[in-house]
Amino acid sequence: MEIIITDTAYDTANDAASRISTFINNKPNSLLCFAAGETPLCVFTILIDLQKKNHVDLSSVYYVGLDEWEGLSQDTKGSCYQVMSDNFYTVAGIPSSRIKRWNGICVSPEDELNDVYQYIIAHGGIDLALLGIGMNGHIGFNEPFTGLPKKCIRVKLDKTTQSVSKKYFDIPTKVSYGLSIGAGELKNSQKIILMATGIHKADIVKSTIELPNDISIPSSLLTDHQNISLLLDKDAASKFSL
Ligand code: GLP
Repeated sequence: MEIIITDTAYDTANDAASRISTFINNKPNSLLCFAAGETPLCVFTILIDLQKKNHVDLSSVYYVGLDEWEGLSQDTKGSCYQVMSDNFYTVAGIPSSRIKRWNGICVSPEDELNDVYQYIIAHGGIDLALLGIGMNGHIGFNEPFTGLPKKCIRVKLDKTTQSVSKKYFDIPTKVSYGLSIGAGELKNSQKIILMATGIHKADIVKSTIELPNDISIPSSLLTDHQNISLLLDKDAASKFSL
């Protein structure tokens, strides 16, 4: 696994944006999957800036949502789709025909999981996944001990995720389950950019690197991917040893 450590979170985002931009320019019409957490927000800002300077056309590719909180609509502030829409899709002017979004208030989660999976299959799999490491190592909503499921999954959220979720919502919001692309399907991506920034991620970054293929640390299950880059700022990288 390639590990790149930069001085600041901005530098990490800049590196990610540069790689994504190059990828898009080399492979228009590819399928990208971006995490909707706090970590990639600056990547989106830089990508939009690159588009304004005509260095990349962000509408030349397709996007599939990584995950969604079950029970939240696409209009709910703090839902994964809303975060993506407000910080990327709308600002970047991505046509809705280029976006596969999760419906967190679907009547049948089973149908929803299959619908997103079929979209991925129809596009020949994910070409590039930009992923953030959660506080417990989760990737999307692939929680500890979920393993490497292929297809898409409905997962009971663990206590850490439920607690961390408060940062996304303005009003108290109970979340119990998540809908997500399975880690096995993410691992099928041609290219993975895994990101973590901030001192609060230093412990889980250390576990991710020092305990490869540990089922209690979902991010560690990706580290033997043939084309993965782990992008860290120096705070997130402050605890591990190689
Ligand atoms: C969240 C989301 C993921 C996200 C991860 C890290 O709960 N399910 O999509 O990538 O956890 O989030 P953050 O970047 O806010 O730390």
